[in-house]
Amino acid sequence: PVSPEFLKELPKCEHHLHLEGTLEPDLLFPLAKRNQITLPETFPQTVEELQEKYNTFEDLQDFLNYYYIGTNVLINEQDFFDLAWAYFEKVHKQGLHHAEVFYDPQSHTSRGISISTVTRGFQRACEKAELELGITSKLIMCLLRHMEPRECLETIESAKEFIEDGTISGLGLDSAERPFPPNLFIECYERAREIKSDLNLTAHAGEEGTAQYVTDSLDLLNAGRIDHGINSIHDEELIQRLANEKIMLTVCPLSNVKLQVVKSVSELPLQEFLDNNVPFSLNSDDPAYFGGYILDNYLQVAKDFPHWDYNVWARIAKFGIEGSWCEAKRKNEL
Ligand code: ADE
Ligand code: ZN
Repeated sequence: PVSPEFLKELPKCEHHLHLEGTLEPDLLFPLAKRNQITLPETFPQTVEELQEKYNTFEDLQDFLNYYYIGTNVLINEQDFFDLAWAYFEKVHKQGLHHAEVFYDPQSHTSRGISISTVTRGFQRACEKAELELGITSKLIMCLLRHMEPRECLETIESAKEFIEDGTISGLGLDSAERPFPPNLFIECYERAREIKSDLNLTAHAGEEGTAQYVTDSLDLLNAGRIDHGINSIHDEELIQRLANEKIMLTVCPLSNVKLQVVKSVSELPLQEFLDNNVPFSLNSDDPAYFGGYILDNYLQVAKDFPHWDYNVWARIAKFGIEGSWCEAKRKNEL
């Protein structure tokens, strides 16, 4: 097996990170206090109780129920800045060089917070991270698939100026996967591409959903990469297509275990992806909830795939760089 030092030094890129998923209990409670937000009575009331809950989620929906309550403590532009900045500071120490990060505008606009407040707070943290830590980044707005597609279209309209000026680099689709298939969002993705023809597109698919959700995200939404995507392994034709078209899967090992998608990281089809030349990256998803940031995910994979040598890890690092949405010049630096 490779050394922890090697994994730390390996130039890492993150492509699947929800900024709201970096909200640690020790920031959540102070923010609730600062903003005078009363958490529901059924919600854990201390850092310790909340950490305890994070040890066991039954599935994606169980996690999302807590995640959306936590999100309610974020009110002011400064809160969004503080949240993202805390993330960048943490992963800087773990050898992260480039981050393409998600956020859910609708989690905030549905509470009366403007998309500008959220976007500018996050954007300021991204700028500071590049300036002071050398971490480059891209913001990706996600549509919540449990919301009405009509409302999602309105969200895209409200984000128009940020899409046009490049503050928002990409569009994604997250939240509860299974009852909300990709075909519901065809118009949304079309409209986003109308606003900016070269907007980067991705979608969560094949986490709890079937391989068909992955195929449909490619065919119907025009996604250029797929978030999670691990259930692609059940469709041989799709696996060949991902390899041929160099569609990267943004795999989240600790997340998949915590949300009981797999029993252990060793069950993930990573060796099969390598054998079939399917590009993938390793990511933390919602690190405050799933017990680890980017390096922790790399370390766990190295533990569960102990026969991978330096060459295999160099190949994974290269998948991540090539699958990033940054300019060719930055890719060369990475
Ligand atoms: N929102 C935050 N994390 C998510 C995940 N893993 N799947 C779907 N929606 C999410
Ligand atoms: Zn996710």
